[in-house]
Amino acid sequence: MRAIIYSFIFVFSFSSSFAQSPITAQKLDLTYRKFFKNINPKGTKRGVVVASPSKSSPDYFYHWTRDAALVMRVVLKEFQQAKSPRLRKQLFNLMDNYVEFSRENQLVQDVDESLIDPRYIMGEAKFHVDGQAYNKPWGRPQNDGPALRAVTLIEFAASLLSVPGGLDYIAKKLYRPELPAHTVIKADLEYTAHYWKMENFDYWEEVKGLHFTTLMAQRKALHLGSLLARTLGDKKASQYYGEQAIAISKMLNKFWSPKLKRLKVTLETGGDLRGKTSGLDVASLLGVLHSEIPKSSYSILDPRIQSTMVQLKSSFQKIYPINHVGLPATAIGRYPEDIYDGVGFDGGNPWFLAIHAYAEYYYRLAHRFVLDKRVNLSQLDKDFLKDLSFLKVNLPRKGELRPESKEFMALIKALVKEGDSYLKRSEIHSNSQTGSMAEQINRNTGYMRGARDLTWSYASLLTAWQERKKLMQRLPELRR
Ligand code: NOJ
Ligand code: NOJ
Repeated sequence: MRAIIYSFIFVFSFSSSFAQSPITAQKLDLTYRKFFKNINPKGTKRGVVVASPSKSSPDYFYHWTRDAALVMRVVLKEFQQAKSPRLRKQLFNLMDNYVEFSRENQLVQDVDESLIDPRYIMGEAKFHVDGQAYNKPWGRPQNDGPALRAVTLIEFAASLLSVPGGLDYIAKKLYRPELPAHTVIKADLEYTAHYWKMENFDYWEEVKGLHFTTLMAQRKALHLGSLLARTLGDKKASQYYGEQAIAISKMLNKFWSPKLKRLKVTLETGGDLRGKTSGLDVASLLGVLHSEIPKSSYSILDPRIQSTMVQLKSSFQKIYPINHVGLPATAIGRYPEDIYDGVGFDGGNPWFLAIHAYAEYYYRLAHRFVLDKRVNLSQLDKDFLKDLSFLKVNLPRKGELRPESKEFMALIKALVKEGDSYLKRSEIHSNSQTGSMAEQINRNTGYMRGARDLTWSYASLLTAWQERKKLMQRLPELRR
């Protein structure tokens, strides 16, 4: 069945492409195949997304709540765009399986209570592929998981609102007002609304504290949750979720250091920061990409994320030898102090998903400008502008750019080229025959490292590609 899914999607995706694409048709095809292979592979329960097929050194053959939520967003987008009823049905089934398995995770019974506090079961980072609890020591809870999952499923619910039978499906499996919650979204929202102030482990499962990225996901979940609750007549909950989202917004502002001009990814809560003194982390960018709310603080347009990106990039430019050999763009890692090498602790490396995140950011910023039909120059970070290597015109320091001006188009083109250079960079380190991408890239040799065929590596490439495609559809001028 999956063979049919990707061949369908593939034809549809590439037809809207154009000559200067940074990814070949073949690469895109391979990526879709690899991606779908990790959804419900042999030996796993329906609805499982494995982080990687690798079962040892490292063992990533689990369903991670975080990875799965981000992966299923890609499936959801394909579902929303699918034209053929047959493809739509197949993609719907994948989403439905994910809904079922997620609910099962929330209700998991075989929990070792000396390790896992049942109150925080929603924050379990990962599950066995048969749905059993992971009863071994691990960083827990990780509260980004339920928030990211809620966002994916709320967007799924939103796309069902106006289709025949959609409301019934939502009420049956996704959201009902009753408490205690009996539906997956409601349970995630209740958990998130009650516990967002609690210290928990970060995206990288290492540091306990309050994290920018996690709070971004929680704010987005509660914001969207508030809208969904209102649509479904759950008035009180709508108000409560909305209030919590606003409170999180206030907290989020504390992560900005005006002195350093950067976001600090974790607030120093007295916990062990594991040597992460700079506060720089690509997770801050992921927080924006995965969870921005347009027109709110820390949207794509926020100069605070831009200046953080420039500083992060320049630190990786310095510390990774593979960035000194004249390859396009900069290979990006998680954070400068990282020592996890994908198997052990021999030093941090660039990650595919981090490189894709930079590409996605440039595309989305350009897309934002195109949708707004204006660029507010005084709102752009100056260092970020200076860092755009493909920008060939001088921009005024203040004021606005309008689409008619040659500067506007020059800026858009520069952003697209910048994004493309990151996708080309990722391509160089992947396997050109098979399209495979692991988790990391060896900082000295440029060869792949760590978990092979990391699903999130594929998902992040497809997401960046989708963003580029959306932008290009609006830009006939650029296609020439
Ligand atoms: C595995 C985690 O998933 C990874 O993020 C972390 O760096 C290593 N364990 C070391 O704690
Ligand atoms: C390690 C990463 O740090 C974490 O974010 C991810 O969830 C797991 N690997 C599984 O891919």
